[in-house]
Amino acid sequence: MKTIVLTGAAGNIGSALRQGWSDGRYQLRLNDIKPLGEMAAHETLYIGDLRDAAFCSALLEGADAVVHMAGIGTDLELELLIEHNLKALLGVYQAARTHSVRMIYASSNHAIGMYATDIDIDEYAAVRPDSLYGISKVWGEGIARLYFDKHGVESVCLRIGSFEAEPFERRHLHTWLSHRDMQHLAECCIDAPQVGFQIMYGVSANTQRWWQQSDNPIGYQPQSNAEEFAARIAAISSRGGPLAEQFQGGGFASADYSNTK
Ligand SMILES: NC(=O)c1ccc[n+]([C@@H]2O[C@H](COP(=O)([O-])OP(=O)(O)OC[C@H]3O[C@@H](n4cnc5c(N)ncnc54)[C@H](O)[C@@H]3O)[C@@H](O)[C@H]2O)c1
Repeated sequence: MKTIVLTGAAGNIGSALRQGWSDGRYQLRLNDIKPLGEMAAHETLYIGDLRDAAFCSALLEGADAVVHMAGIGTDLELELLIEHNLKALLGVYQAARTHSVRMIYASSNHAIGMYATDIDIDEYAAVRPDSLYGISKVWGEGIARLYFDKHGVESVCLRIGSFEAEPFERRHLHTWLSHRDMQHLAECCIDAPQVGFQIMYGVSANTQRWWQQSDNPIGYQPQSNAEEFAARIAAISSRGGPLAEQFQGGGFASADYSNTK
């Protein structure tokens, strides 16, 4: 049985994955700085801060893959982004190099959020971050690329859209990632024989998705489609005002926008 490190296990996505894997299909090392409750037989508790290099090394030693969900998940102060999305990630990658562990890295659609909403892009489109948070995800993709090219550490970078139990606003017609598809995506990353370096869009099979996957070496087959909810959500405008409708990053793109050209 594979041993999987799940960082950020107390968070939105981490706790959903933990629940999805409650059947014990993987040996799980659960990490967070927040409490994680009772451990099941297939779970081991690793409470600790990923900015601590020695802790990262102990966490990853002997593991098969890391599903790295820990970090700051929104556009907070630069200092927090530097600490948790940059420094902590570097420590995790250093441990992955030391112990030859595959990385599954939670990037974000906000790495490409300044693309206009009237075009589709694939995973090879140039990055266009929409915020300092988006830049922190570009940094993460850069680390992943560097550690594969220079040290052979395999990575799948997941540009996650909107992870929600159900879509609830118009933007989600394009960006929704269901719980089912997130779990399947993570399993494809873990179970594929080889992944090399790959960027995958973490998005469901939404009819109106903006993000097309050109290469899919892991065999990700999303099944959910936000279109089923269109009658309920198509009229619910996206958070961030009218400008948010123009950019794929939505409210992250419209925040502090001042381009008059
Ligand atoms: N939820 C989404 O729709 C979405 C969309 C795009 C990208 N993402 C990315 O996916 C990841 C998970 O998202 P989420 O919504 O579950 O976030 P979340 O904020 O709910 O969970 C993140 C967890 O990471 C933990 N954490 C933060 N810094 C840590 C550190 N130094 N050491 C150990 N643990 C630490 C936090 O305590 C928290 O429990 C994030 O990196 C986020 O940027 C999420």
